[in-house]
Amino acid sequence: MIYAANFKTNHTRQSTKTYLETLAQKLADKRTEDRVFIFPPATALDSYSGNFTVGAQNAYPTQNGAFTGEIGLEQLEEFGIKTILIGHSERREYLKEDQETVVTKYTYFMAHGFEIIYCIGEPLEVREAGEKAVADYLLSQFEGIDLSYEKLIVAYEPIWAIGTGRSATVEEIASTHAMLRSNMDRPLLYGGSVKPANIKEITAINGVDGVLVGSASLDVESFSEMIFA
Ligand code: PGA
Repeated sequence: MIYAANFKTNHTRQSTKTYLETLAQKLADKRTEDRVFIFPPATALDSYSGNFTVGAQNAYPTQNGAFTGEIGLEQLEEFGIKTILIGHSERREYLKEDQETVVTKYTYFMAHGFEIIYCIGEPLEVREAGEKAVADYLLSQFEGIDLSYEKLIVAYEPIWAIGTGRSATVEEIASTHAMLRSNMDRPLLYGGSVKPANIKEITAINGVDGVLVGSASLDVESFSEMIFA
C-alpha cells in the first residue's frame, strides 16, 4: 500500500522536523511492500532520512529564473527532492491552475524523472449528475497527461470529500476506481477524509493501491496508526 501525507499549509519547518523524526522511528519496522510519502510545505523541505519519501506539494516548471514567489528545480535539487504532487483540486480551484498549466507542469517534471502523484477529482454537482458525468469529468483531467509514464501514481480525490469529514462510500470508490483502471494502468490512490476510523475499509477495496491523506495526516500518531492498521 501507498500512504501519502499532504500537509498543505500546515506545519512549520520545526514541527515537520519533529514529525519526521518520530515517523522515522515508527517506520523502522514497517512492511517492506508499503511506501510512505510526506508532502510538507515548501519552507520545510530539507534532506531528511527515514523509511519515507519527501516530496513537494508544488513547484514551477523551471530550473530557476524570474518567477516571484515560486520555487523551481534548483530549489528541489538542493534537498534531493524527486517527487511532486500535481493537479490537486485546491490548486486547480484556488490557484486557478487550468488543465493546460497542469499539463505543462506534468510534462516538465516527467522530463526530469520525477515521481508524480497526479490528482483528479470531481465537484459535488458532477457527482450528483451521475456516473457518466463523473467519468467524463475525470477523464477530461487526463487530457494531455502521459498515462504511460512509469513514475506516475494517480490519486482520485472527490472534491466534496476533501476536508469535509465525509469520505466517498466504498461503492463510489470501487466503481470510480474500476472506471479509472480501465483507462490506465498505474497505482491508484483514494483521497478525501481518509482517517484511522475508515482506513481499513478503504484499503480493502479492490483497485485501491493506497491513500492520500490531508487532515488526518497532520498528527504523526494518527498517520502512523493508518500505516499500521
Ligand atoms: P483530507 O484531504 O484528508 O483532509 O480530506 C485530502 C487531500 O486533499 O489530499
